Amino acid sequence: VFAQSAKATIGAESNLVISKHIYGQFAEHLGRGIYDGFWVDPKMPVKKQDRYRLDIVEALKKIKIPNLRWPGGCFADEYHWRDGIGVRTSRPKMVNTNWGGVTEDNSFGTHEFLELCRLLGCEPYISGNVGSGTVQEMSNWVEYLNFDGKSPLTDLRAKNGHGKPYNVSFWGVGNESWGCGGNMTPEYYSDEYKRYAIFAKDYNNAKLKKIATGPAGDNYNWTEVVMKNVKKDIWGIALHYYTLPTGSWTGSKGSATNFNEDAYFNTMRNALKMEEYVTKHSAIMDKYDPQKNIALVVDEWGVWTDSEPGTNPGFLYQQNSLRDALVAASTLNIFNNHAERVKMANLAQAINVLQALILTNKEKLVFTPTYHIFDMYKVHQDAKLLPVKIDVPEYEFNGNKIPAVNVSASKDASGKIHLTIVNIDNHKSVDFKADLGNVAWNTVTGQILTGTNVTNINTFTNPTNIRLVAFNDAKKDGSSVSVKLPAHSVVSLELK
Ligand code: AHR
Repeated sequence: VFAQSAKATIGAESNLVISKHIYGQFAEHLGRGIYDGFWVDPKMPVKKQDRYRLDIVEALKKIKIPNLRWPGGCFADEYHWRDGIGVRTSRPKMVNTNWGGVTEDNSFGTHEFLELCRLLGCEPYISGNVGSGTVQEMSNWVEYLNFDGKSPLTDLRAKNGHGKPYNVSFWGVGNESWGCGGNMTPEYYSDEYKRYAIFAKDYNNAKLKKIATGPAGDNYNWTEVVMKNVKKDIWGIALHYYTLPTGSWTGSKGSATNFNEDAYFNTMRNALKMEEYVTKHSAIMDKYDPQKNIALVVDEWGVWTDSEPGTNPGFLYQQNSLRDALVAASTLNIFNNHAERVKMANLAQAINVLQALILTNKEKLVFTPTYHIFDMYKVHQDAKLLPVKIDVPEYEFNGNKIPAVNVSASKDASGKIHLTIVNIDNHKSVDFKADLGNVAWNTVTGQILTGTNVTNINTFTNPTNIRLVAFNDAKKDGSSVSVKLPAHSVVSLELK
C-alpha cells in the first residue's frame, strides 16, 4: 500500500564467477522423488525413455540444472552400490529405513542415475557410504565408475552395458556423519574422511572433487575441527540448512499452504539466517584456507514444512507457495553474493520431496513457484559477479524487523547485466533504484513472479496460477535503473 525506497550501487565487475553449480539439485531415494518421480511405472501414460519421465527431463533441461546429487541424503549411508547394478529383476531388495520403511527394489541404480544425468546434460554428484559401508566398497565404486583400463570391476561395468568410464567428479564422503550418517564427532569423522578419501582414487581424466560432510546450521565447531584436521585431498565441505517455518524440529514445522503473516515473517527471517551461516562458516574456513581453495557446498537447503495431509509423513511431500519462491530467490541471492566461497549448492529436493521444483500426480505435472525462480535465475550461471551495496527498508511485523529487499547482480559472457531483486515485504511496494556507475547499458527488460497472496500455489487444476510474466515497470534514469517492486515479488532485469 505504502511505497518506500531502496538504493543499490552496483560495483565494477571482478574476475569472480558465480559457479553454475550453485544451481544444483538433489534426488534422494525418498518418497516419490526417484520412484514415481524421475523413474516411473512402465505403464504410466507419459512420454518415456526406458522408465525415465521425459517431461521432467525436458523441464529440468530448460532451467539448465548443472548437477544432480544422489542417492542421498540419509539414504546414501545405507546404500550399497552393488545392489543397484546388473539385471534389474535380479537385484536384491532392501528396506529404506529412513524414509517410510518402504521396500527399495534397486531398479534405479548406478547406471540408471548416470543415464539420467546424461539425459539432463548435467554433472553427477554421488554421495558415498561412510556410515554403514566400507573403505573397500567406496574405493571399488570409484574404480567401477572411473577407471579407463582393464580390471574385474571395469569388465563388470562393460558387461552391464558401459564399456567407457563415466568420469564422475563430484564425490561426497558420507552425508550428515554427525547424525543419520553415523553419529560421529567431528574429530572421528575427520580421521574417517582421510581414510575413505585416500582410497577413493583419481583415475585418468577423472579427478575426484571430494566433498566432506560439513555442519548443519550454526555448528561452527564441526567446520573448525574438520578444516583443522583435513588439510588436503578435499574439494569442498558441505553445509546443510533447512528453513523451518516454526524454527523447530520437534512438533509441527508449519503448514506449506495454510499459514498466516506471523508464520510468513518467521519463515523469511529463518531463511535469511543463511547469510549469517555462510558468512561465519566462511570466516572459519578463511583461517585454514585463506586462498579459498576449498568450496563451501550448501548441498541441502530449502523450506521444510509438515507433509501434505493424507500423504505418508515419511515421504516428505509438501506443496510449494509464493513464500517458497521468495525463500529460493533470497537464498540464491545470498549464494551469488558469496560466490568466492560458495561454489556449489543443491536444493532439497528436485521432484515431489520437500521444496520441490516439480510435483506430480500420476501423469499430471505442475511446476512450482520455486521452479520458476530457478528459471529466472539461470542467467547468473557462470556469469561474473557484480558486487552490490544496498541500503534497504525493513519489513516489520509484531515489533520484529528483517531487511525487506535483497539483490544480486552479474554480467554474462555476452556483456548483458542481470539483476535479481526480491521484495519480501508482505504489504509495501518498494521504489528501488540501482546505480550502475560506469557500467554502460541502454535498454532494460524484465520478468516478475508474484501473486495476490504469499500462500498462492500452483495446483494440478490451476498449474499456472504463479508464473513468470513480463515486467515493464523498470526505467533508465541516467546511469541508474528505477523499478517499482510490488509487495512479495521477485523481479529480474536484463540490461544491455
Ligand atoms: O533431504 C532430506 C534429508 O534431510 C536428507 O536425507 C538428510 O541428509 C537431511 O537430514
